[in-house]
Amino acid sequence: MKEGFDFASLNYLNSSDHVSGADLSFIKSYFKDKRFGLILDIATAAGHCSKVFESKLKVGIDLSLNMLKTARSEFGIIPVCATSTQIPFLDQTFDLVSCRIAMHHFENPGRFFSESNRVLKDRGILVLVDSIVDVEDGYLNTIEYFRDNTHIRSLTVKEVINYANNFRLLNYVQTKRKHTFYDWAKRLNADDEKVKQIETKFINLPENIKQELDVCMENGKVISYTDKKGIFIFEKYDIRA
Ligand SMILES: C[S@@+](CC[C@H](N)C(=O)[O-])C[C@H]1O[C@@H](n2cnc3c(N)ncnc32)[C@H](O)[C@@H]1O
Repeated sequence: MKEGFDFASLNYLNSSDHVSGADLSFIKSYFKDKRFGLILDIATAAGHCSKVFESKLKVGIDLSLNMLKTARSEFGIIPVCATSTQIPFLDQTFDLVSCRIAMHHFENPGRFFSESNRVLKDRGILVLVDSIVDVEDGYLNTIEYFRDNTHIRSLTVKEVINYANNFRLLNYVQTKRKHTFYDWAKRLNADDEKVKQIETKFINLPENIKQELDVCMENGKVISYTDKKGIFIFEKYDIRA
């Protein structure tokens, strides 16, 4: 998995899907009066999520060294090469943990939640953003996996809440994200044949799923589709409270 992401690190730095978005604007405004001590961005990639938080120190973990180099040079993130399922920090280290548009790559979301919980201080905050598939589950997950075999599974809201059983949900917001088809399809350097195959999968979707994904076409070509991003703000339970 890591080789594909190493190869694509500049695409992620410049990708319109990652640089900005309604999710980042919401998080920035939600925490606008807050200054954190130590924060950790899990699967930081080029580091875009960390830029919305005010904090003394920002640590980013990722499997890809090239992503981490970019995150350090662009956003001053302290880079740590590690996996979301084994975070190399002591219990109760961080004031806030974030993870944006990455959990769908994790083979074990349960471990991601338990590790995030472990490294957070009591009443620490977990900010999670990821694609939500409440209606289009099987269809979108299948296309995503075909495009990028590091895509394991986008979850439903219910699945996320079930995994987060050591957290209190403080806020949940759903936003939409329009993806320009060709940028999105080529982000992991797919060739023209593969892009065509991905396009055919969109064209062959049932009408109700096309509507749900707002698949836009011009002259027989897919121009864009839109998916849902869930923004979850969780708080770690204070076990002494
Ligand atoms: C879509 S990018 C994340 C985007 C980034 N969080 C942002 O806001 O721009 C996915 C990243 O997850 C990383 N990744 C995938 N699985 C991982 C895992 N189990 N642990 C840590 N990083 C992982 C990849 O190397 C890649 O850099």
